Amino acid sequence: MSAERTAIPVLEVVGLKKSFGEHAALDGVDFRVEDSEVVAILGPSGSGKSTLVRCIDQLESIDGGAMYLDGELLGYERHNGHIRPLRDSDIQRQRRRMGMVFQQFNLFPHWTVLRNVTEAPITVHGIPPAEAKKRALELLDRVGLADKADAHPRQLSGGQQQRVAIARAVAARPRVLLFDEPTSSLDPELVGEVLHVMKDLATSGMTMVVVTHEMDFARGVADRCVFMAEGKVIEDRPAQEFFAAPRSTRLKAFLTRSTQAETSAP
Ligand SMILES: Nc1ncnc2c1ncn2[C@@H]1O[C@H](COP(=O)(O)OP(=O)(O)O)[C@@H](O)[C@H]1O
Ligand SMILES: [Mg+2]
Repeated sequence: MSAERTAIPVLEVVGLKKSFGEHAALDGVDFRVEDSEVVAILGPSGSGKSTLVRCIDQLESIDGGAMYLDGELLGYERHNGHIRPLRDSDIQRQRRRMGMVFQQFNLFPHWTVLRNVTEAPITVHGIPPAEAKKRALELLDRVGLADKADAHPRQLSGGQQQRVAIARAVAARPRVLLFDEPTSSLDPELVGEVLHVMKDLATSGMTMVVVTHEMDFARGVADRCVFMAEGKVIEDRPAQEFFAAPRSTRLKAFLTRSTQAETSAP
């Protein structure tokens, strides 16, 4: 067995269950992400992709299973031989080690771009303001927005706003970045600039989980691809094999449909 497989994964999800009423959105999901790995999550609408990343980020409670970040149990603690929910402050402490990028960028409209990026590092992580500003400007430069530091979100295109949201997530030096369809609300001509920034992060060694419909990104940038349907992981394979030799009928059909959709797009 290689050293890589015996190392503690950055993220590990075991038998995760989550229901909304009678409906099992996650029906026993197992999933792991190693250091510096980029994992794409694909699947039809309603298959549980958003629920999975929202559970990992503790925006949703879970009904069963367990999740670990660097080996630390998320959301719960062992106490006198029992498992009990963590206090809110401890949950927030765990959440700070993850960065989340949403389909809707969720920037604060009344703040400048710079403040959107520096706020959490200063108020939550206790970074001195001058240092937070320096790092934010470096990150804005990296996402191609050095000249927009003093702009407000409404003055930016959707692609630019999403790049700010990514800079904001990276500014907190997360252990893992979670993306939920980061380009799905963008006009087609703005998708490329956001994917370019994500590819740059992936190349720099950032550990990333990316829910996406962008097949070229999944194929070209992800190390592994996970296919979900009806709250279950159907296939979890190295990206090349995933696309070149899908095993399940469902993934084959999904890839055929997705490729057709891409080639028929305007
Ligand atoms: N807050 C919610 N309340 C009720 N049902 C929900 C909620 N969030 C998700 N669901 C349901 O859970 C299933 C999985 O949803 P979701 O994780 O959003 O799928 P995906 O992101 O793959 O499109 C869907 O059937 C959806 O309708
Ligand atoms: Mg979703």
